[in-house]
Amino acid sequence: MCGIVGYTGINNAVDILLDGLSHLEYRGYDSSGVALMAEDKINIYKAPGKLSNLIDKLKEQDKKNITSKTGIGHIRWATHGLPTLVNAHPHSCTCGGLTLVHNGIIENYKEIKDELESKGVKFDSQTDTEVAAKLIAQNYAMTKDLVSAVSQTTKKLKGAWAFCVMHKNEKETIVATRKNAPLLIGVGDKENFLASDIPAIIKYTKKAIYLNDNQIARVKPNSIEILNEDGTLAQNKIEYLPFEPMALSKMGYKHFMLKEIFEQPDVVRNILQDKLHDEFNKISLDDVKLDKNRLKEINRIQIIACGTSLHAGFVGKYIIEDLTGIPTDVEPSSEYIYRNTIADENTLVIGISQSGETADTITAIKQVKQKGAHVLIVTNRKESLLARLSDSLFHVNAGIEVSVAATKSYLAQLMSIYLFAIYMAETLDINPKKVQEIKHELLTLPAKLEIVLSNAPKIRELAKKYSGYKNFIFIARGINYPTALEGALKLKEISYINATGYPAGELKHGPIAMLDDTMPVLAILNEGMVYDKVMSNCEEAYARQAKLIGVANFIDDKHKNIFEDYILIPQIKDMVSPALNIVVLQLLAYNIAEYLGKDVDQPRNLAKSVTVE
Ligand code: F6R
Repeated sequence: MCGIVGYTGINNAVDILLDGLSHLEYRGYDSSGVALMAEDKINIYKAPGKLSNLIDKLKEQDKKNITSKTGIGHIRWATHGLPTLVNAHPHSCTCGGLTLVHNGIIENYKEIKDELESKGVKFDSQTDTEVAAKLIAQNYAMTKDLVSAVSQTTKKLKGAWAFCVMHKNEKETIVATRKNAPLLIGVGDKENFLASDIPAIIKYTKKAIYLNDNQIARVKPNSIEILNEDGTLAQNKIEYLPFEPMALSKMGYKHFMLKEIFEQPDVVRNILQDKLHDEFNKISLDDVKLDKNRLKEINRIQIIACGTSLHAGFVGKYIIEDLTGIPTDVEPSSEYIYRNTIADENTLVIGISQSGETADTITAIKQVKQKGAHVLIVTNRKESLLARLSDSLFHVNAGIEVSVAATKSYLAQLMSIYLFAIYMAETLDINPKKVQEIKHELLTLPAKLEIVLSNAPKIRELAKKYSGYKNFIFIARGINYPTALEGALKLKEISYINATGYPAGELKHGPIAMLDDTMPVLAILNEGMVYDKVMSNCEEAYARQAKLIGVANFIDDKHKNIFEDYILIPQIKDMVSPALNIVVLQLLAYNIAEYLGKDVDQPRNLAKSVTVE
């Protein structure tokens, strides 16, 4: 959460910082601010709310007169203190000569604050960040060197941080450091950049240096000096950034979310082109370091993830257990880390994360690595912290996802899990018939996804009809139960409508009490093992006057009349059907939220990368 940027060079810093922040808004939008180095002082501009408020404020002050060539910026997702002007970053020392921006949480800020207050230091904000500004300033007063002052300060801090710091006496200089929060240095010609994430700088440079935990960088227009924690000079390599500025455009769609939903056939095509060409040849996964001997040692699998990625993990349990017979548990990372979990060198732990930055998942993965488990990371960001922690890697390769609500990355995660499960079964020489059947189904997916998307106008009509309801229940059984969870999550996160996903068979054990004609029940049905059972649950809901919406590849004639509405998807085997059903639910959620006038790409209170536990 929170995004930070920095620039020092020959161009106008404010334009580059504001542009960079606009590409980090997915990380938070509670407030924003920039600090710009002037002749003998640092000027700070901040505004509560979205970045547009800061841009308007700067316009009023006549941005043309701001010509600074060095500055830092911040976009906030509030953790400590309300989303107000006073809590907006940058934060400064009392004299205003030092200022910084921060992403992360300083866990021991209260004790440091108490100590500083007892010595007479006054605080303006309720943030954890301000203690770092005050402490660095105190250390700077003694050392007169910003790198040393930052280094001394971070040694006292507990938690996670990425900092960009400026001092008015250190011209053209930004000092940056990080621990358990992302920060990269964009390398330019007579100019250098800092950012929490690639989109903020990709327009300006394709070269970057990633800082390791506790390294400190002194960044100037013509030099980047990096020191290790022990003060020795580091030699981090320059890497080439993986994506194109094009990915950051809406390409004519009203929202990024809609664009990303419609990209899904191509996302699947790309993955197939890369890894699965036909039903007959074995899949090879270059970055998966599990050969037959190692796989034979694996006697349990644990999948850990959060939110939408967790739902992909639930689907994964069905697929992996069915294809490999290896017992597989799925758990939210935030639960996994606070109990004595059982994992050892015979355990394969799969961490799924679109961003590769989610703090809960990072902590969980660090824990299991200490226990000797083999860690496979499934992520859309192969340069992320989680990817760097992996023993094996599956890059889902969905392309940058800008909308806060995950769509195409979910489908790409499902594809990755199908392919990984197939890889395991093929490597272990088991279940060849099932493997071939699933491969066949996967190869048909892009065309079928296009058919589902061609139903968008009908789904839009449905959205209009149902947008007035305050509550929804999504039901399904088997491998589509996670689809119900994910569909309900999509609806609630972007439309703020209360939606709950339930295993259809559980309806009668409690939730059925809520059913009447004010509660639509969306049922996911697929011809197969659980079709009749889900249909019985639909009958039960119908008998309680619930409005039934079906998402199905088949509805038999004698049951059609119980559905108020239904959307048919193409024929597909149960095992692969989550990949089609979810697209209907994404479109339904999108259209309801859009019809209600919600901020689809940036829903309230959310951020795309959740870097706090
Ligand atoms: C919902 C959504 C979130 C994320 C969750 C985990 O649309 O995007 O629920 O799935 O915050 O994020 P990652 O996958 O980046 O670990």
